[in-house]
Amino acid sequence: MRILATIWYLVISMLEFLFVITKPKLWRFYFYFSLEYFFFSPYYFADKKADDDFVFGFTPLFSFNTIFKKARVHYYQKTEYPLAFCDAGCGDGRGVFLVNQLYDRPVCGMEINEKFVQKIMFMKSFVKGNLLIIGDDMFNSEFQGYGIIFITWTTFKDETEKRLIAKLEKEVMQNAIVVTLSYPISSDYFELIEKKRILVSWGKSDAYFHRKVK
Ligand SMILES: C[S@@+](CC[C@H](N)C(=O)[O-])C[C@H]1O[C@@H](n2cnc3c(N)ncnc32)[C@H](O)[C@@H]1O
Repeated sequence: MRILATIWYLVISMLEFLFVITKPKLWRFYFYFSLEYFFFSPYYFADKKADDDFVFGFTPLFSFNTIFKKARVHYYQKTEYPLAFCDAGCGDGRGVFLVNQLYDRPVCGMEINEKFVQKIMFMKSFVKGNLLIIGDDMFNSEFQGYGIIFITWTTFKDETEKRLIAKLEKEVMQNAIVVTLSYPISSDYFELIEKKRILVSWGKSDAYFHRKVK
């Protein structure tokens, strides 16, 4: 099982590398991003004893790119409000750097794991861009003002999921797009508009695109 996971990790990393080669705007960030991963795998930074909410897995840059491009189309169908992106539980921050560096959008990454926050701050010091990193529990921050919010809640406890849905209902602005990984939001505040199969570090998963309708 461990061998299969390692092979999958190498395949995903190679595909990610090939994706980055075609995007010069990502080279600077990716150089510093990979520097540490050259010596330590992402799982060195993750808390190996973590369970439920705090389990780490990642969305490779090419999958993030697919998600952001689709979400952006849905977003601009309904509003011209300036688009800011948030990854709530951003892990090693690769998604926020992708959106910021490639699409020049203001971004916010919220992450509770200190080691990841330090890694993100290290990368942030080498790139220019409007990147807000909140090294704290996402429940202590507001979700207001973001056009697209991404949530990888695959392993979240039922209780956390319920709390998060209540927070999204209350704080997310109307017409904003919320993308969740693995399962959709069950709330009549959100309309499911698309589902897309993507590759992630743990295999394949579905991304669910919702619009906040009230
Ligand atoms: C499965 S990882 C996904 C990382 C990233 N979004 C991606 O797709 O590559 C989920 C991350 O959410 C973080 N997380 C979980 N609960 C959190 C909370 N309440 N506040 C901030 N971060 C949280 C975990 O530490 C973990 O790094």
